[in-house]
Amino acid sequence: ETTISLKEKAEFNVGAAVKSSLLKTDAQYADAFKANFNQLTAEFEMKMDQLWLSENNYNWEAADYLVNFAEDNNMEVHGHALVWYRAFPDWFKNQSNDSIAFESKVKTYISDVVGRYKGKIKSWDVVNEVFADNGGARNEDIIAPLFNDPTAFYGRCFQYAKDADPDTKLFYNDYSVVIDEGKRESIKNMASRFKTEGFPIDGIGAQFHYGTDTGLTKINDGFTDLASTDLLIHISELDIKINVNKSNDFSLYSGNAQQQSVIYEAIVAMYETLPESQKFGISTWGVSDNYSWLKTEWHPKEFPLLFDADLNKKLAYQGFLNGL
Ligand code: XIL
Repeated sequence: ETTISLKEKAEFNVGAAVKSSLLKTDAQYADAFKANFNQLTAEFEMKMDQLWLSENNYNWEAADYLVNFAEDNNMEVHGHALVWYRAFPDWFKNQSNDSIAFESKVKTYISDVVGRYKGKIKSWDVVNEVFADNGGARNEDIIAPLFNDPTAFYGRCFQYAKDADPDTKLFYNDYSVVIDEGKRESIKNMASRFKTEGFPIDGIGAQFHYGTDTGLTKINDGFTDLASTDLLIHISELDIKINVNKSNDFSLYSGNAQQQSVIYEAIVAMYETLPESQKFGISTWGVSDNYSWLKTEWHPKEFPLLFDADLNKKLAYQGFLNGL
């Protein structure tokens, strides 16, 4: 049985995405989260469609609960995510928006949200998932179609967040960042363009939704390349699938729980090689297997996280700990 916890051993933030409803109703889940993690990401309560009920009308209740929970438990809060094509509320999408009106509303939203939590939320995913696989512009029907230069709009969103809270760290967040060279190139180009044009960016969030079948060499090479940006690097949504073939007669310990532990250890050890100036933290996307988004997103018999359904530490927990 391990004695030291992840947050005690790590010299950077060890976070998890949590749901406010579970913190309220599942004491074991809340206890495991408090005992092992020192940073909180809202799995969905701080997304646009959760906060923004109509123009100038917000539902702050769940986000406030999470910020207060974090403060009560000496945790930092990572805000996720201000601008994400998948989280625009229907009422906003249905407005016939020219780009000027669209941007004006988004600017107000960013200012209202970041301003409310000024000094409380220490970092934000300002923009999430704007590139397609291989790095082209994502084919979504909300943001990009309105702008002939979407990257400039994204840069202005970073500026709006900075204006609302100059002390919060501002991240661009995406998935497949270290295994998709084309996407990583686009991200690096956007970051360097932001710097050239004076838009504020502090870091890159690499989600790290991988599996026991993801090659570690590929992850390492991509991570080294990403680190060459000299930006803060946040492994922002780490989970490691083990039911990689989506088989229906699969259980946690019949599968490669040991291999999962090896992958977690390798990823954490790789993160440790970052220069101190680039270390921000590692967040898992969830606390325990039973509440993982992958049970619906991937397969009901998926066990991607550090704790099992009974909040026991898995081999993966030990692997993560060994990597620190
Ligand atoms: C997911 C949540 O886990 C789900 O509960 C929700 O239904 C959809 O969003 N990339 C992200 C996260 O940046 O916000 C997504 O979270 C997972 C993929």
